[in-house]
Amino acid sequence: MAIWVLFHLFVLLPLLSSTTSANTEGDALYALRRAVNDPENVLQSWDPTLVDPCTWFHVTCDSDNRVTRLDLGNAKLSGNLVPQLGKLERLQYLELYMNSLVGSVPAELGGLKSLVSLDLYHNNLTGTIPPSLSKLSNLRFLRLNSNKLTGRMPRELTKLGNLKILDVSNNDLCGTIPTSGSFTKFTEESFVNNPRLEGPELMGFVRYDIGGCK
Ligand SMILES: *[C@@H]1O[C@H](CO)[C@@H](O)[C@H](O)[C@H]1NC(C)=O
Repeated sequence: MAIWVLFHLFVLLPLLSSTTSANTEGDALYALRRAVNDPENVLQSWDPTLVDPCTWFHVTCDSDNRVTRLDLGNAKLSGNLVPQLGKLERLQYLELYMNSLVGSVPAELGGLKSLVSLDLYHNNLTGTIPPSLSKLSNLRFLRLNSNKLTGRMPRELTKLGNLKILDVSNNDLCGTIPTSGSFTKFTEESFVNNPRLEGPELMGFVRYDIGGCK
């Protein structure tokens, strides 16, 4: 009896929890598959009857079978991003650039606590840049350029101390460009071609909450 209990505790429970995370991650990826049009069938191998998404094309996993990369740049995908992507806790690279994605950037992407690179450039994304992205403390590359994003540049993003590359050019952002924190290292090149975006912010002279957003 005691041995049976121990067997449950030390063998079955860990097994169960590892398949549960594989299912959660597989479900999140499958939600993306369902939300996009995929004329070139690049997501054909994303089969929910296979428990482990690590066998799917364009998905990379670590040794614990947790998803670390999604490589879907230039894949002719259209349709929407899904909030479920925020459940991929070990995702480091989210590469969805040069597709025809529409709709907004889900605020839930702020839950991708391992994320190093968020590449959504050259799509047709609308809506605002979620301030929740400021939770991505490992983020080094944030490329949202060439979309149709509106609203302000969230000042919270200046907290991203590891950010090396920021590109929000070619959108329809408004307000002023924050210049504090990690933003001190970015030049105007990161922000060009946002006709309603003013700045850089002149500390003490131009208030953050004015300029071009009315
Ligand atoms: C965005 O939409 C416009 C017009 O609806 C279209 O011409 C353009 O090709 C789209 N761009 C991308 C990257 O999908």
